[in-house]
Amino acid sequence: MREYLPLLIVGAILGVFSAVFTAGYLVIRRQKEAIGFDRNMKDGEIVRRLVKYAKPYWKSFLFVGVLMLLSIAYDIVSPMIVGHIEEMMRGQFEMPVLGRWVAVYAGILLVSLACSYVQAIVLQVTGQKILSAIREELFTHIESLSHAQLNAIPVGKLVTRVTNDTGAISMMFTGIFVNLVKNSFVIVGVLAAMLCLNYELTLMILCFVPFIVLFTVIFRKFSRKAYRKVKDGTTDINTFLSEHLSGMKIIQIFNREAQKKAEFDEKNRTLGRAKRRQILTFAVFRPVVYMLYIASVLCLLYLGGRGYIKNTSFLGQTITSGTLVSFYMYISKFFNPIQSLAEQFNWLQSAMASAEKIFTVFDIEPEIVDAPDAIELDHVDGNIEFRHVWFAYEPDEWVLRDVSFTVKARETVAFVGATGSGKTTILSLICRNYDIQRGEILIDGIDIRKIKIASLRKYFGQMLQDVFLFSGTIRSNLLLREEGISDEEVLEACRYVNADKFISKLSKGLDEEVRERGNNFSAGQRQLLSFARTILHKPSVMILDEATANIDTETEILIQDSLEKMKNIGTMLIVAHRLSTIRGADRILVISRGEIVEQGTHDELLRLGGRYYELYRIQEKKAVLG
Ligand SMILES: Nc1ncnc2c1ncn2[C@@H]1O[C@H](COP(=O)(O)OP(=O)(O)OP(=O)(O)O)[C@@H](O)[C@H]1O
Ligand SMILES: [Mg+2]
Repeated sequence: MREYLPLLIVGAILGVFSAVFTAGYLVIRRQKEAIGFDRNMKDGEIVRRLVKYAKPYWKSFLFVGVLMLLSIAYDIVSPMIVGHIEEMMRGQFEMPVLGRWVAVYAGILLVSLACSYVQAIVLQVTGQKILSAIREELFTHIESLSHAQLNAIPVGKLVTRVTNDTGAISMMFTGIFVNLVKNSFVIVGVLAAMLCLNYELTLMILCFVPFIVLFTVIFRKFSRKAYRKVKDGTTDINTFLSEHLSGMKIIQIFNREAQKKAEFDEKNRTLGRAKRRQILTFAVFRPVVYMLYIASVLCLLYLGGRGYIKNTSFLGQTITSGTLVSFYMYISKFFNPIQSLAEQFNWLQSAMASAEKIFTVFDIEPEIVDAPDAIELDHVDGNIEFRHVWFAYEPDEWVLRDVSFTVKARETVAFVGATGSGKTTILSLICRNYDIQRGEILIDGIDIRKIKIASLRKYFGQMLQDVFLFSGTIRSNLLLREEGISDEEVLEACRYVNADKFISKLSKGLDEEVRERGNNFSAGQRQLLSFARTILHKPSVMILDEATANIDTETEILIQDSLEKMKNIGTMLIVAHRLSTIRGADRILVISRGEIVEQGTHDELLRLGGRYYELYRIQEKKAVLG
C-alpha cells in the first residue's frame, strides 16, 4: 500500500481541485443567466448551408485532408522513433544504424512541416475564395432589397454582416473546422499508438481524461459567458462610435463633448472589464490543464519507472526504457489537442452565430421583384398616369390618398406643398422604389408592375432631395451608370447644366477628389453635379426633388437656367421649394396631406386665390424681407 502513496497524493490533489471547481460551477449555474448565443437556426441547418459554399472547392479540401494526415504522422510516429533510439543507445549500437534512424526522424519532420505549410496555404486561399463569394452574394442580395426593407435595417448592422461576420465564417473554414478534425485525429492516433506500446500505462493516462472533461465543461461555461460579454461590449462600442462619429459636428455645435466622452468612457470600461474576465478565465484553465499534464507525467515516471526497475508493471506487462521515453512524449501530444479543442469550441460557437446572422439577411425575401411576365421596354415616351393611388409606409397610415393625375410626354409638371405632404413619396413611387397598396401607376399606358424594374429605371433620371456623391472623383460620380462615355461628352453635359464653371476652377478638373458623401462640395455644386449625372444617361423622364438647402443667388440662377434647358430633354417632374423655380412649369399640382388639392399653371393658381396663392404670398414676403 505504501508503494502507491505518491499516487494517492496526486489523486487527492486532483480530487480537491475538482471539488472546488465543481462547486464554483454549480454556483454560477444557479445564477441562471441567459448566456447562450441566442440562435433560432439549428446547427445542422447552418452547417448544411455552409457546406454549400465549400462544395465547389471539395478537391482542395480533400487535398488538405490528405496533407493533414501526413502532417499528423509526425506526431504519432516521432515518439516511437525516439523511444527506439533510446533503447538502441542502451544496448550495443552501430553508428550507421543510429544515423539512419536520426535521418528517418528528420525526414518525417521535414515532410510533416512541408505538408503543414502547403496545407495552410491551400486552406487560406480556398477560405478567401469562399469568403469573397459569400461577401459578393451578400452585397448583391442587399442591393436587391427594396427601400422599405433597407430603411428597416441599420446601416451599421449591414456593415458588420458584410465585414466582421463573413470574416468569422472564413475563420471557420480556414481554422476551426480543420483544427477540430486535426485535433480529433491526433487524439485518436496517439491513443492507438500508446495502446500498441503499453496498454497499462495508457489506462493510467486515461484516468486523467474524466478530470479533463470536467474542467473543460466548467471552463466552457465560464469562457462562453466571458466571450459573450466581450462581444456585446464590442458591438456596443462600435454602434456608439459609428453614430457619434457621423454626428460629431452636432456634438461640437451643442457642446456635448464632455457628456459624450463620459458615455464613451463607461462603455470602454465595460469592454475592458469583460476582456479582463475573458483573459482571467483562460489564465485559470490553461494552468489547470497543465497541472493535469504534470500530474500524469509524475504518475508515468513513478509507475513506469517502478515497472522498469522491477521489469514488470502492476498488470504484468514488461516496460522498456524506450517505452517510457515514448510515453513521456505522447502525454504532451495527447493533452495539447484536448486543450485546444476546448478553447476552439468558443470560436466555433461565435462563428456559427455569425453564420446565422448572415443567413438571416439572406433569408429576407426582396419585396420588389420583377413579375414573371414582366416586359422589357425599348423606349419610353414619358406619359405618366396615377390612377387612384393609395400608399402607406406603415400599414394604414396613409401618406397618399386617392391620388390621380396624368402627365403627358415632354410636359413639365411641378409638385408643391407643405413639408411632409407627400411630394417625395409620389416621385419615388414612379420608379417603383416602393410598391403601392391600391390603384395603378402607368407609364405609356403600361402598369409599372408589369415592367422589368431595371428597364423601368433605365429611362428615368432621378435627382434626389439629398444628393449623394460617392467617394472617388467627379468623373466616377458622373459616370455612375455606364462606361464608354468620352470626357468630351461628360464636359458637354457639365456645360449644359452649368456645372462646368466650378469644375474648370478645380485644379484637377474631372479628376478632382470627391470625399465621403461629397462633403468637399457645396450643396449647390452637389445639385449641379447630380443634374449632370442624370442627363449623361439621356433619360426620357427626369425627376427632380429640389433640396431645401439655401444656396447663393448666383448658384440659384445657374440651377434655374439648367432646369430651363433640361425641360427640352423629356418629361420632367419637379418638386420645388422655391416657387420661383417652377414658375415656368406647364402645370403645378398642389399637394396637401397626401391629396391633390389644386392644379393649374402658375397664373391660373394665383387667380384661384387658394393654397398656392397663400404659399406664394408667404415666399414673396420673405423675399422682400430678405
Ligand atoms: N421611409 C419612410 N417611412 C415611414 N414614413 C415615411 C417615410 N418617408 C416619409 N414618410 C412619411 O410620409 C409623409 C410624406 O413624406 P414625404 O417625404 O413624401 O414628404 P415631402 O412632401 O417630400 O416633404 P418635404 O417637403 O419635407 O421633402 C411624411 O409624413 C413622412 O413622415
Ligand atoms: Mg421631400
